[in-house]
Amino acid sequence: MTAVDSTASKSTGVAPITVPPFAVISGAQVRRTLHGSEKRITELVETTYRVHGAGDSVNPPSYFLRFPDRPCSRIIALPASIGGDTRVDGLKWISSFPKNVTAGIPRASAVLILNDHDTGYPFACLESSIISATRTAASAASAADWLSRGRSRPTRVGFFGVGLIARYIHTFLVGTGWSFDEIGVHDLSADSAAGFRCYLEQSGTSSRITVHDSAEQLIRNSDLVVFATVAGQPHVSDLSWFAHNPLVLHVSLRDLAPEILLASTNIVDDVEHCLKADTSPHLAEQLTGNRDFMHGTLDDVMAGRVTVPTDRPVVFSPFGLGVLDLAVGKYVYTEVARRGELHVIDNFFHELSRYG
Ligand SMILES: NC(=O)c1ccc[n+]([C@@H]2O[C@H](COP(=O)([O-])OP(=O)(O)OC[C@H]3O[C@@H](n4cnc5c(N)ncnc54)[C@H](O)[C@@H]3O)[C@@H](O)[C@H]2O)c1
Repeated sequence: MTAVDSTASKSTGVAPITVPPFAVISGAQVRRTLHGSEKRITELVETTYRVHGAGDSVNPPSYFLRFPDRPCSRIIALPASIGGDTRVDGLKWISSFPKNVTAGIPRASAVLILNDHDTGYPFACLESSIISATRTAASAASAADWLSRGRSRPTRVGFFGVGLIARYIHTFLVGTGWSFDEIGVHDLSADSAAGFRCYLEQSGTSSRITVHDSAEQLIRNSDLVVFATVAGQPHVSDLSWFAHNPLVLHVSLRDLAPEILLASTNIVDDVEHCLKADTSPHLAEQLTGNRDFMHGTLDDVMAGRVTVPTDRPVVFSPFGLGVLDLAVGKYVYTEVARRGELHVIDNFFHELSRYG
């Protein structure tokens, strides 16, 4: 990449510190880069969990910007820094406006800024709703794999809430080698359920598809349950629905009553992050006054530090870490640059000479 020499560095005789060019990467470019790369991205997400677990990252709490006049909506800032081979800093800035869906446009929209490790300069702005959905789905696929290793591999998956995230998770499960005899679908919106069914049929699945009007029937008929609703507080509280000890990917974080978690094995992506923002694990901590119900992280499971019992449900609650967005975003940036397709904004940073 072409870089701009700073005047100051020219006089020092040491390796010049340069300002990297600033590029904008569109959603179309992101999608083209990530499409069909489910295995590679899932491996990248697992590597990033390991780097984060080893402490080679900075991932402060997400900041939730909320609005008194639009209580359902929010914009979240996820600043982060990741080491390892990725070595980049940055920020995801992601909006959730659930009413968008009734207007036929996606709930979430996002950008990701990548900052240069050495100078701090932002060097890329990427469309990031696809990156965010991709890293979320890759994390879910990884959890499905690792958390089912000690038990019989699920053959009946149930999707509880079927918007964009559910679609990406299905794509990632299939793309990382899963096949199912049965796919269950449940959504409060008949249109969403019909749209997801249509997507499944177009994907060429040979699975039997059942749309369940009843949440109970979906859960009882699934040994892998994926929650991807937009529920703000728990709406599933009957422990008997989980008597068959399913593996639950609790991606939307606030669906399950704390009592369900207290009777389950709980695995998260990061303990401190998950015990915030009124997630179900946070409610369980408030209810019990301790964290004894928390068994560990996915990194703990991958490293063999935690084993997952088969005689109770296992619930994976991923808060969603900014380091994952950085890792996937940097991968996209590198691939787009390698293809020579970066759209660089000339002279984006203009005041580069300290005294003019
Ligand atoms: N943990 C993470 O890392 C992470 C990352 C990205 C998104 N998410 C979460 O995933 C969820 C889904 O995102 P999306 O973009 O697919 O949203 P979306 O709005 O496209 O779809 C959500 C669907 O859930 C349905 N729904 C809402 N409440 C329901 C309920 N109580 N029972 C059944 N169905 C219900 C809606 O009708 C809708 O079809 C959101 O909560 C989002 O915050 C989590």
